[in-house]
Parts: sequence; C-alpha cells; structure tokens
Amino acid sequence: MATYSAPGKVFLFGEHAVVYGKPGIAMAIKPRVYVTVRKASQVHYGKSPYIEACFREMGVRGSIYINSQIPSSSGLGSSAAVTVATLAAINDEYEMGMTREEIADRAFSIEKNVQKGRASPTDTSVSTYGGMFFIMEGKRRRLAPQNYNLVIGNSMISHSTTRMIELVAEMRNKNPEICNPVLDAIEGVTMEAMRYLHDSQRLGKLMDVNHALLDAIGVGHPVLTRLVLAARATGAYGAKTTGAGGGGCMIALAPKNFRNRIAGAIEVFEGRAIITSVDTEGFRKENDG
Ligand code: MEV
Repeated sequence: MATYSAPGKVFLFGEHAVVYGKPGIAMAIKPRVYVTVRKASQVHYGKSPYIEACFREMGVRGSIYINSQIPSSSGLGSSAAVTVATLAAINDEYEMGMTREEIADRAFSIEKNVQKGRASPTDTSVSTYGGMFFIMEGKRRRLAPQNYNLVIGNSMISHSTTRMIELVAEMRNKNPEICNPVLDAIEGVTMEAMRYLHDSQRLGKLMDVNHALLDAIGVGHPVLTRLVLAARATGAYGAKTTGAGGGGCMIALAPKNFRNRIAGAIEVFEGRAIITSVDTEGFRKENDG
C-alpha cells in the first residue's frame, strides 16, 4: 500500500492564454488530495477518467482510495493533483522507479488526453513540484515562491474545464479579430506581472485587468464577478477569476490583516472562502498509518 498527496493550484495570471502558447504564472496552494493505491486483483477505480488512465498507462491493476481537500471542478487543479498523486503512488507501490520529472510529464500527457488534446502543463507541473512557476509554450520555469496572502472564493458553480477551453476555441475560430488581441493582452499582463512579483499592490491591479480580459473571452460568470467585487471592496489588492472560469473559483491577493474580512465578504455573497498561501512542496509520500 502506498499513500501520496499532491497540492492544488491557482493561476495568478494567464489561464486560457497558456493553451495558445502564451505565458502564465501559477502557484501551488495548501489544500491537498491524498491517494492510497494498493496492489489488488479486484480493480476498484471509481468513475474518474484520470485514474483509469493512470492505471492503464502504467499497465497495472489495483485499488485506490482518495481523500481530497480540494473541491472538484472548481479550477483549483483537483484533477491534476489526483493524477499526480495516483501516478506517484502507483510508481511506489509497483516499484517502477519513475523520476519526479517523468511523473510530471506522464501526468500532463494523461490530463491532455482526457481534456481532448488541449491543456497546458501548468496544473500537473505545479502539483508535482509545488511552489511557483512561469509556464510558456509547454515549458516551465521555477520562480522564487512568494509569500502572498490569498483568499479563494469558490462560487460553488461547477464547470467543465474541457467545455470552457472549447468555448474559447469556438470564439477564437468565429471572431479571431476579437479573441486574439485579448489573448495578446493577457500575455502583456502576465509579462508585466513578472516584473512586479514582489509588489502585491501592483500585482493586484494587474489581476483586476486579467479578470476583465477573461470576461472578454467569455469565461466569466456573474457570481464570480460578484465575489471579485466583494473582495476588492473589502480591501484586496486585486481579485480575478482563477482557472477555467464559467464557475469555479476566484482569487484575491490581500494584505495579511484583511484576509478574514475578505473571506467574510465572500461568504456573505454565498461563496465558500479558503484563506491560503503557497505550498512549496509538490507530491509527497504520506504515512500509511
Ligand atoms: C485551467 O485551470 C486553466 C486552463 O488554462 C487550462 C490549462 O491551462 O490546462 C483553462
């Protein structure tokens, strides 16, 4: 029996644009998913296509137990965390000797297949290694992790990442003259953010711009915008949709002593708030205890 955990993630900048070779900045966050894999002749995978793909691709059979602190279909990278932790647990249980790098790459290829060929390696990289990453054109660069105070607001509206990616692709096909400049502008915001990673106030303003640009490519949701406005009104440096959008979560970058107030405002507007910060560890072995 082998138990592994892997962290969730938030996109600070650049979601959706990364699918088109633009840059993105993402960070691992504290909620984790815990996965236990056991050799067994009786297969028990549940219904997750990600887990099924992990066992199939590794060519083994077994049973799995999952305990997740990351809400699913919320934009916090739960499917990548499950995939990474499952591969790490299979790797250990069946003594396959894969490196961390190989697990990250295999997790990305599984995520990409399940999401019908369109995905960036962001979620799987962040979940594998922890910390903060700059992602561009399928490559990742580790950034010095920043001690940001983040408040996540879960709109509790479930969404499908695959569907949201399709929506942007449809808009890009139908109106390239509108969609492409917006993706370019998201790139501009991300590159500007890279210059101000140490300056939360400036970064917050750029998050506000990124939120508006995500709305412009059709992945906003009125409930997300309500939570974003509530966070800004209660003292956040800035706030935006995070992840695929159309529901799921927003994040606010906050001064430390405003976190509780912002979380309270998010709850008043019927979101679920999570106060969090960077998780510098990627997947790790847990005590089977
Ligand atoms: C999903 O969290 C973010 C997207 O950019 C897809 C991806 O990067 O794989 C929409």
